[in-house]
Amino acid sequence: MADAKPSKRARIGILISGWGSNMVALVDAIGDGRIPNAEIAVVISDQPEARGLVKARDRGIETVVIKRSGRRREEHDREIVAALRNRQVDLVCLAGYMRVLSGEFLKAFPRRILNIHPSLLPLFPGLDAQKQALDNGIKVSGCTVHFVDETLDGGPIIAQRVVPVLDDDTVESLSVRILAEEHRLYPEAVRMVLEQIACFDA
Ligand code: GRF
Repeated sequence: MADAKPSKRARIGILISGWGSNMVALVDAIGDGRIPNAEIAVVISDQPEARGLVKARDRGIETVVIKRSGRRREEHDREIVAALRNRQVDLVCLAGYMRVLSGEFLKAFPRRILNIHPSLLPLFPGLDAQKQALDNGIKVSGCTVHFVDETLDGGPIIAQRVVPVLDDDTVESLSVRILAEEHRLYPEAVRMVLEQIACFDA
């Protein structure tokens, strides 16, 4: 009997601007098999000082800095898209990446760009989602992984997780609780999306 054809490993490009803990969660999930058949092709930051760059390098992952400062969004994005294409990236994961993507970037990777956001979208898009949750006095919040489209945190939702909001919560304590769930949710969502892509490509 002929051996089954080994499936190609999906190549993931991760965009960060800061701490990079969700990036690490994805790297760990690939490492322990929760995201099968995948590899991180590159971690790209628009901020040279992003702490996540060191974490990626420590894990043997190629990093690229493409500075945003003083550059038009389209020009900046063109360079990022070229870096992703050069590395044959199949899926782009935004992980604390703090610049809105241009239409050109979206067209380059249709339905292949994911983002994680620290609220139960469509509630509280944009900055300071945890503060928005506290200011509105809601009793549950959480995190959302969604496809990125031309809206701000408004693309189709892939997966969500809920956390309680406690009476004595501060922005910090709520953020920590949500972030812990983000680290579980993002790998699950990436696995689901890659399974879908594999079905369509088969
Ligand atoms: C996370 O809360 C994520 O939801 C938001 O930015 C934060 C990034 O954290 N988009 P990290 O850089 O992954 O640690």
